[in-house]
Amino acid sequence: MKQSIHTIIIGAGAAGMMAAAVAGQRGAKVLLIDHAAKIGEKIRISGGGRCNFTNMALDGSDASPFFVSQNPRFVRPAMSAYTAQDFMHILRAHRVRYHEKHKGQLFCDDSAQNIIDVLRVECDKGHVQWRTSCSVTGVRMINDSLGMRFELDTSTAGTWRCANLIIATGGLSIPAIGASGFGYALAEQFKHTIVPTAPALVPLTFAEWSKNGWAELAGLSLPVRISTGEGKKIMSFDEDILFSHKGLTGPAVLQISSYWQANTSIALNIQSDAHLEQLLCDGKLGAKIQLDTALSQLLPNVPKRLLNHILTRPEFEKYAKHKWADVSDKVLRQLAQHFNHWTLMPSGTEGYKKAEVTRGGVSVKELHNGTMASKLCDGLYFVGEVVDVTGWLGGYNFQWAWSSGVAAGRAV
Ligand code: FDA
Repeated sequence: MKQSIHTIIIGAGAAGMMAAAVAGQRGAKVLLIDHAAKIGEKIRISGGGRCNFTNMALDGSDASPFFVSQNPRFVRPAMSAYTAQDFMHILRAHRVRYHEKHKGQLFCDDSAQNIIDVLRVECDKGHVQWRTSCSVTGVRMINDSLGMRFELDTSTAGTWRCANLIIATGGLSIPAIGASGFGYALAEQFKHTIVPTAPALVPLTFAEWSKNGWAELAGLSLPVRISTGEGKKIMSFDEDILFSHKGLTGPAVLQISSYWQANTSIALNIQSDAHLEQLLCDGKLGAKIQLDTALSQLLPNVPKRLLNHILTRPEFEKYAKHKWADVSDKVLRQLAQHFNHWTLMPSGTEGYKKAEVTRGGVSVKELHNGTMASKLCDGLYFVGEVVDVTGWLGGYNFQWAWSSGVAAGRAV
């Protein structure tokens, strides 16, 4: 038997649950379907188990600088209609305690499960129906006398008809906990354009990392300015990098990975002092110490292991034990350049298994920015990570899930 309902949401993650709660509380009859047995798994594992659920920078002012998309300005209406403060308000109402950790990032004091519980209760308030461990095996457009526009076949819940269909199936990262390409395939079925997808907020890998001895620095962490791109499109972050056995990770690298394009370089400034070249060239006059000693005195914040490693590079190796005063300005300038603009060519990323999010997705050009509704198909909506909107590290992706979910939940 075919059943009918006002709105079906596919994907019971952050965006789907938020959309369901809002639509249900506004009086819509809502069915939420997820193929996973457990809901909100990404929320549960996020932020080291404490969920970095928003960022205080998202206070209703222009949010677009914190997002990567073919059109970052697309996020503005949804993000100003539902802000970080609005989400904090719900948490406070449920007595969930949280704290700021770093650069406006808010985390639960206790556990990410608090957020899942809040969303579950909010859905219950809206009498949302659930089907978990249930796959949608086919979606067709229909036009029946009750105003139903879609018919869905499911693996365990039979066939359903609905007037509105919200796709909240997320991106491709971490397939082990339910990520799938379903949302992209469905968007294409309805003639939507998919901006090519790629892992983002992901560690970068480098060819011959171990062979060149970099793997020996695994575990070493230091603050840098990291950049990629050229001219007006240059993007930089001031954060920490972490050396790993495969390449580079840490917040600086995750942030830049969302902007990095294959076959282009990244640059690290590991010494914030812009006058290093001058210090090295002028300071050498009359100096009796060796170059390696001079460098460790001039760069106290650069870990010794990294300094030594750089000084074993072929272009510097023979000068490391030279008297500083005897090293030519040309070599010192080259050395300064290395610390201020160390160029590296990533060979790739650690992929969707390690990526926090997926870059690309359903093109924002074919969605209405205030409602997330499709411009191509009445009654169809896309929310959360499946859309070509990728936030910075730091709670921006969850806030996008909440804000876009609310936009669709209010619109259906
Ligand atoms: P989400 O992935 O949450 O939900 C999609 C749902 O759809 C899942 O329940 C899935 O099972 C279901 N689904 C998929 N395919 C389906 C199908 N074919 N049929 C039915 N259901 C289907 N962000 C942030 O802001 N702060 C943070 O601290 C972190 N931390 C973090 C850590 C890790 C390890 C990861 C992987 C990611 C993060 N993120 C994050 C990113 C954040 O988790 C992500 O942006 C949001 O969960 C996206 O919310 P969505 O609801 O769009 O997708």
